[in-house]
Amino acid sequence: MNSFALVFFLSQYVLSTQAVIRVLTSQTFFRGIEDGRFDVIGDVRSAEDYNREHIANVTHLELLHLAGRPNQKATPQDLEGCEFCHIVLYSTDGNRAQEALQILEDAGFKNLYNGLGAVQWAAAGFPLVTRSDNVVPPCTTSRRVSAQCEERHQANNPTAPAPVRAPTPTVRPPAPATAPVRPPSPPVVPVKKVVPKDPLKDALKIASATDISRGSLNRRRVRGDQD
Ligand SMILES: *[C@@H]1O[C@H](CO)[C@@H](O)[C@H](O)[C@H]1NC(C)=O
Repeated sequence: MNSFALVFFLSQYVLSTQAVIRVLTSQTFFRGIEDGRFDVIGDVRSAEDYNREHIANVTHLELLHLAGRPNQKATPQDLEGCEFCHIVLYSTDGNRAQEALQILEDAGFKNLYNGLGAVQWAAAGFPLVTRSDNVVPPCTTSRRVSAQCEERHQANNPTAPAPVRAPTPTVRPPAPATAPVRPPSPPVVPVKKVVPKDPLKDALKIASATDISRGSLNRRRVRGDQD
């Protein structure tokens, strides 16, 4: 891959990342939970961290918490069925949450939020709990819920309808009158019909007339001679 192609590839990658994964402040994350805007609220820290304390009523994601660890394969399997649902993840400081969200995005998940970390959450004054309240996200167990997420996603992201091509006309419409207007032609002067002369007839006429005149002339001469 040449450098131009590499830059192009990376820019597409960054743009697509920004388009799907939205980073929330802890305040926005908190308000979103209160308003019921998330279908899944996931903790991608270790089980040890989760058990110590966590945000109330979240889902500990056993498989995604491995994101970012070398030689560990994180998978989105524990969120199957939630592809179109609104998923917010948090970690210790937001970094592992971002890596886990990237795995989800690559797997085709559509509505992803980074709620940063327990550090920022606690610093903003929001509570953490120690009780065991792990939530099973309804979209992982109910096809109906999955379908509802998809319907809502399609409603919020209407795909632009394919442009309707005008049918190619089989008969071309008459070309607009773009021909230059001719200046009016001069009035036609009626021409008298010229009867072409018949050269042979004319020649005969002249010959006979000459003969006659010659004859009469001769006669006159004769007479004159006689007179
Ligand atoms: C957690 O869920 C329980 C049971 O549904 C509910 O009573 C409680 O208010 C929830 N806590 C928070 C902080 O949302």
